[in-house]
Amino acid sequence: MAMKNKKHLIILSYLIIIVAACNNNSYTPPNVAFTMDESMLPAYEKDIDHKGILNTIQRNQEEAFMDGKKIYNSNCINCHGTPKQEGSLPTAFKYWKDSFKVGKDPYAIYQTLTRGYGGMPPQTALTPTEKYNVIHYIREEFILKQNKAAYFNIDSNYLASLPVGKSKGPSSIKKEGWLEMDYGNFLINTYDH
Ligand code: HEC
Repeated sequence: MAMKNKKHLIILSYLIIIVAACNNNSYTPPNVAFTMDESMLPAYEKDIDHKGILNTIQRNQEEAFMDGKKIYNSNCINCHGTPKQEGSLPTAFKYWKDSFKVGKDPYAIYQTLTRGYGGMPPQTALTPTEKYNVIHYIREEFILKQNKAAYFNIDSNYLASLPVGKSKGPSSIKKEGWLEMDYGNFLINTYDH
């Protein structure tokens, strides 16, 4: 009898583990080789409220779009260009036709912007909200209109899977001309392609 109970217990624990694993709704970040590893990031990146920032953007889409457009036209357009005007780096991702290597959902794109990937330098001059605003802009302006297969639909399940940190990060990052344009060691990555 004792033996039988033990067996039941073992089977029950397996079941609990399986159910727990299936219920795990938390986000698994893309497993690619980013330029910066986590230890190189500013400390605030560990506690960002990704879900909160995205929720705010979903409610104020126009404002996010306008801010994102400004950022795109000053920080991204040089390399990435537009559908009408190719950017200076032919290898730079074309939102209107390419498929993402890192990932197409906003949190994955956030990783690309924060940590850098291949010829794409980390965007150290942007705050977390600015990064999500420019992500909103490229999604709505280029991907949704011209590259639907690469468009990720944000729903409540997705939002619930994102990290809920306590911070929105700094409200602005001091911009010094020389610093903003200097990709330092990361610039070399743009030559490799
Ligand atoms: C110095 C040039 C340069 C700048 C500036 C730049 N990018 Fe990129 N970006 C690239 C290159 C090159 C790639 C292709 C990387 C690869 O596949 O190796 C890329 C790739 C990407 C990708 C696709 C990643 C994937 O999953 O495949 C996204 C998204 C992206 N950039 C967004 C941005 C945004 C938004 C900005 C402005 C805030 C920006 N980039 C600024 C050069 C640049």
